[in-house]
Amino acid sequence: MSPELSIDALLTTTRTVRKRLDFERLVERAVLEECLEIALQAPNGSNHQQWRWVVIDDRERIENAAEIYRSAMDQYVEDIAAGREQYLRGGSRSEQIGESVEYLKLNMHRVPVLLVPVQEDRFDVHRKGAAGTYHQASQWGSILPAVWNFMLALRSRGLGSAWTTIHLLREREMAELLGIPYERHVQAGLFPIAYTMGSEFRRAARRPVDEVISYNQW
Ligand SMILES: Cc1cc2nc3c(=O)[nH]c(=O)nc-3n(C[C@H](O)[C@H](O)[C@H](O)COP(=O)(O)O)c2cc1C
Repeated sequence: MSPELSIDALLTTTRTVRKRLDFERLVERAVLEECLEIALQAPNGSNHQQWRWVVIDDRERIENAAEIYRSAMDQYVEDIAAGREQYLRGGSRSEQIGESVEYLKLNMHRVPVLLVPVQEDRFDVHRKGAAGTYHQASQWGSILPAVWNFMLALRSRGLGSAWTTIHLLREREMAELLGIPYERHVQAGLFPIAYTMGSEFRRAARRPVDEVISYNQW
């Protein structure tokens, strides 16, 4: 267990953990279920709760899922290097794959548990304009708050995770591996889960509030 953290400390030090995941220590299903019970208190559209949480704790299945993650990351790096720009966000022209990202890629198969949050209702890419924005915002807004709650609950119990989405480049392969009905269900990411080595985590460097806030107009 982590030493007691204040709420603000929990909110400001729940980091993406890659290099400090303890691959040797078993993660009990009971602790995962406790965290999920907390997570499910998150808001979601009309309280429909169209979510499913696929926990992978079978070694062989973890290895297969990690392989999908690895190959998706390799594809991403290759595409970026080749100037195929379809993934670049926010006008950025290059994406640095840091050392810890590489570390997680190479070690994903060693984690005790992987989690794939799944939302029913695959986003319809043909819905454009306001209807498309409404649908997407409602869909992601109905699962991602719960995912973040889950990560906070993990941290308060001495565990950690890393938010990852890169495997979604191969979402269909993951769906086939796990038996998720791909046509109707969309995956929100892949979350390695482990106890952390040590529980001291720092605040992150972020743009200051006065740079990003505005009142009453853009
Ligand atoms: C939507 C989203 C997708 C991400 N995808 C990946 C990923 O595929 N692989 C990875 O190693 N980290 C991924 N990250 C982790 C980010 O790199 C990380 O959150 C960011 O560098 C800030 O670090 P912090 O979470 O410790 O504050 C993702 C994070 C978010 C929120």
